[in-house]
Amino acid sequence: MPVAPVPQRVAVVTGGSSGIGAAIARRLAPAGWHCVLLARGEERLRAVADEIGGEYELCDVSDRGSVERAAETVFARHPRIGLLVCSAGIPGRRSFLRADPEVIEQVVETNYLGSVWAVRAFLPGLEAGAPSHVVTIVSVAGLVAFPPSGPYSAAKHAQLAFSRAITAELRPRDIHVHTVSPGFVETEGFPQAGFLEMPVLGRLVARPDKIARHVERVVDRNRRETVVPAWYRIAPLAQALVPGLVHRAVSRARYRRARSDAL
Ligand SMILES: NC(=O)c1ccc[n+]([C@@H]2O[C@H](COP(=O)([O-])OP(=O)(O)OC[C@H]3O[C@@H](n4cnc5c(N)ncnc54)[C@H](OP(=O)(O)O)[C@@H]3O)[C@@H](O)[C@H]2O)c1
Repeated sequence: MPVAPVPQRVAVVTGGSSGIGAAIARRLAPAGWHCVLLARGEERLRAVADEIGGEYELCDVSDRGSVERAAETVFARHPRIGLLVCSAGIPGRRSFLRADPEVIEQVVETNYLGSVWAVRAFLPGLEAGAPSHVVTIVSVAGLVAFPPSGPYSAAKHAQLAFSRAITAELRPRDIHVHTVSPGFVETEGFPQAGFLEMPVLGRLVARPDKIARHVERVVDRNRRETVVPAWYRIAPLAQALVPGLVHRAVSRARYRRARSDAL
């Protein structure tokens, strides 16, 4: 008797063309997920989609209309979505004092609102595919704040607050939200060369596939909020309990750096 093929579950990965998002897609595909990758640049999208036997849609997550159009196109082919990964993001290491206002807007619109528009637009598919999952890739910068990454850190704090709030809000709809905050990860958009040059600090830098393995585990085990590596949890505790000490340490380090830069 012919056996009907088991339908593949569909995962949508924003930022799936590079770094952490691409590593997650590469891990999901062999585990039986059919991945639809979203990003702005077609060349990298097509390369990853071809490699994993997935699909892609051009989409700018900072533009609500673009995300809504991408979701409609995806729903026409896949009305049920089992997993949405929000990994699209851009760096913002320039100080608030030096960054162009347009760059600050782009950092907030991509890193924070990008997740809001993606969850909002893909909600009907996630409900149709329930029990389903949302993974938000936040950052340790969403747990602690120090210069020069003020606008990036603020956007990640906002993304974290959004992710925490929807965890409770979407639970009754059988949609499970997993907030993942990585530390330093070596990727094209976030080259951690400064750290990698220093052998001791280089150990702080993870590879994207480590985050992808972690994401697979948190979805399997239904973990709500995690930090990779876990010991980074100390940082927000220190900032909350002894803020004066942390500010003094950061200011001293910056003063020393400014002095050595001037030499
Ligand atoms: N690497 C780290 O150290 C680190 C640490 C903690 C958290 N994170 C977070 O991890 C996420 C992924 O970063 P990554 O390190 O993997 O960087 P990456 O290698 O530069 O990848 C970023 C991805 O996001 C896409 N993207 C950027 N802006 C977009 C937009 N407006 N609309 C749609 N897609 C957009 C990029 O493709 P296009 O440019 O073609 O659109 C690319 O696919 C980000 O949210 C970042 O904040 C990174």
